[in-house]
Amino acid sequence: MQFDDIIDRTPSYAYKWEKYKGQDILPMWIADTEFRCAEPILDRLKERTEHGLLGYTLPAHHSGANQAVVDWLARQYDWQISSDWIVWTPGVVPAFNVACKALCQPGDKVMVQTPNYPPLLAAPKLNDLVKVEIATVEEAGRWTIDFTELEKQAADPKCKLFIVCNPMNPVGSVLTAEELQRIADICLSNNVSLCSDEIHCDIILDEQVKHLPAGKMPDFKGQAITLMAASKTFNVAGLGTSFAIIEDPKIRRKFSVAAQGMVPWVTVLGLAATQAAFTQCDEWHQQFLRYLRGNRDYLVAEIAKIQGLKLLTPQATFLAWIDASGLGVDNPQAHFESLGVGPSPGVDFGDKNFVRINFGCPRSQLERAITLIKNGC
Ligand SMILES: Cc1ncc(COP(=O)(O)O)c(C=O)c1O
Repeated sequence: MQFDDIIDRTPSYAYKWEKYKGQDILPMWIADTEFRCAEPILDRLKERTEHGLLGYTLPAHHSGANQAVVDWLARQYDWQISSDWIVWTPGVVPAFNVACKALCQPGDKVMVQTPNYPPLLAAPKLNDLVKVEIATVEEAGRWTIDFTELEKQAADPKCKLFIVCNPMNPVGSVLTAEELQRIADICLSNNVSLCSDEIHCDIILDEQVKHLPAGKMPDFKGQAITLMAASKTFNVAGLGTSFAIIEDPKIRRKFSVAAQGMVPWVTVLGLAATQAAFTQCDEWHQQFLRYLRGNRDYLVAEIAKIQGLKLLTPQATFLAWIDASGLGVDNPQAHFESLGVGPSPGVDFGDKNFVRINFGCPRSQLERAITLIKNGC
């Protein structure tokens, strides 16, 4: 199975491996995978470069990539969109920062879940806005949003935007239709806009769980901003290509105006890769999910055997949010690194007692990490 292959990424300056260069630490942090891209993506990129000209292409003119997104959303989520609703962005991070700028005035409040992806936590302040943290709580063995707090904070007239992360990074929960309905009810009754970071939505590991894109919910009347990309699933994050789906033309225009002059077009290679990923890689995608599911189940079972560590089974993503408070160490990140494993520090996401382990890697690498952790715990 190709997902078992160990590929040396050091010649490619991969950030994940650069961080621990020269140290005997297995990098399991930043959210890209160790898997070779599906061959149709690589073929498409070769074809595109062999054409020999890499000048400007307006993303809206790339009908192949736009149609690929339209068809993918119809196939995966039964969401019928028009290609006009797509706004290409060179990453989801610029997109949620653009949403802040488009939908808020300086001094307004923006709600974000915690723990959360660090650039998402940073977005309000970068845009002269006030961050309001909504806690993530454990309910029946699964992480979810503290809805009581969401309701309370949304009622503040200064609160203008909720940036939701679904599937949730780092905890791996997928919001249910009922939870999304609650979010819609709270946002709509308080005039709070919704921007939904769904970059991990194509990595649903629980077979009975379905992802519901925020923009598909009729209550929002097309005004929610949904952010997606092929980047995490198909391991093309280095191509800096993602897209926002915005049905409402006024919100779409506000978003595009806020991006003007600051946010470049996506690259010709990113468009080509997205098109190939969404049209020719279904079989690879299914194998990837099967492999990750195996990794997740292995990791959950092994962590359960280690005293002092706790992991609630993630429903999606290749990220495991591990509670290390039971170890009784001051700095879990330093502790894991001393054992030879390099996770993401929980403190960056909002909880210093946790670490986040990326299990998007060959099983043998994951087994090695578990052995190292077990040796030291
Ligand atoms: C929730 C979330 N949003 C956004 C990103 C990054 O998006 P991009 O590289 O497209 O800017 C990540 C990467 O880890 C992420 O986990």
